[in-house]
Amino acid sequence: MKIIMLGAPGAGKGTQAKMIADKFGIPHISTGDIFRANIKEGTELGKKAKEYMDQGALVPDELTCDLVVDRIKQDDCSKGYILDGFPRTIPQAECLTKALADMDDKIDYAINVDVPDENIVRRMSGRRACVGCGATYHIVYNPTKTEGICDRCGKELILRDDDKPETVQKRLTVYHEQTQPLIDYYKEKGALAEVDGTQDMQDVFNGIVKILEG
Ligand code: AP5
Ligand code: MG
Repeated sequence: MKIIMLGAPGAGKGTQAKMIADKFGIPHISTGDIFRANIKEGTELGKKAKEYMDQGALVPDELTCDLVVDRIKQDDCSKGYILDGFPRTIPQAECLTKALADMDDKIDYAINVDVPDENIVRRMSGRRACVGCGATYHIVYNPTKTEGICDRCGKELILRDDDKPETVQKRLTVYHEQTQPLIDYYKEKGALAEVDGTQDMQDVFNGIVKILEG
């Protein structure tokens, strides 16, 4: 099962992708998490990506496409995977479609988690992310058992650098300009499914499972 998560920043893509990956036993591939891990390790890729991410802008396509195409060719992806935060532009989607076609393959589902802009800023300010495994929490909607400590891996939780309200606003603008057109792109391919992301987390999850289990 090859799945793409679409949706605005803060729509809950990462939250749902982790739950789906656990349920179906497939890897969760988040380009945002990959960039953040590289920033933490101080790699060349991390240094380049940080310049864009801190501004709320997109990292250039040429730095993302090859990275993802290489990742999905690894052995653990043979039964499928869930892509979170990629593709994010039409050229990225075209690059993915072509790479998959070369392997005689395609995306099965592009799931759009729909949340209006008004809800987004509120969610982001309360978000906490794990420095270890990338799990996301919310101080009100999805708190950890012990404050500041990840339930999954026991590492420390942080506020993301790009979750400041003015950067979130910029990310939303970029989303509407560059990423939203992917909804029509995958609709035309017959892969689009939509879920109301304003519901409770478990209800969003149940909605997605229903789509995936047909
Ligand atoms: P990325 O890390 O992908 O960030 P994003 O798309 O902006 O999305 P977020 O991770 O902020 O939100 P999410 O939808 O995962 O929501 P979450 O589950 O955390 O990318 C960061 C940056 O990296 C980009 O800006 C760009 O610079 C760069 N980048 C990454 N990929 C790229 C690419 N392909 N090309 C170019 N650049 C790229 O949930 C949000 C909060 O809400 C959490 O606190 C959560 O607990 C809470 N929540 C979730 N669901 C619910 C619910 N149903 N009800 C209440 N609260 C909820
Ligand atoms: Mg995320």
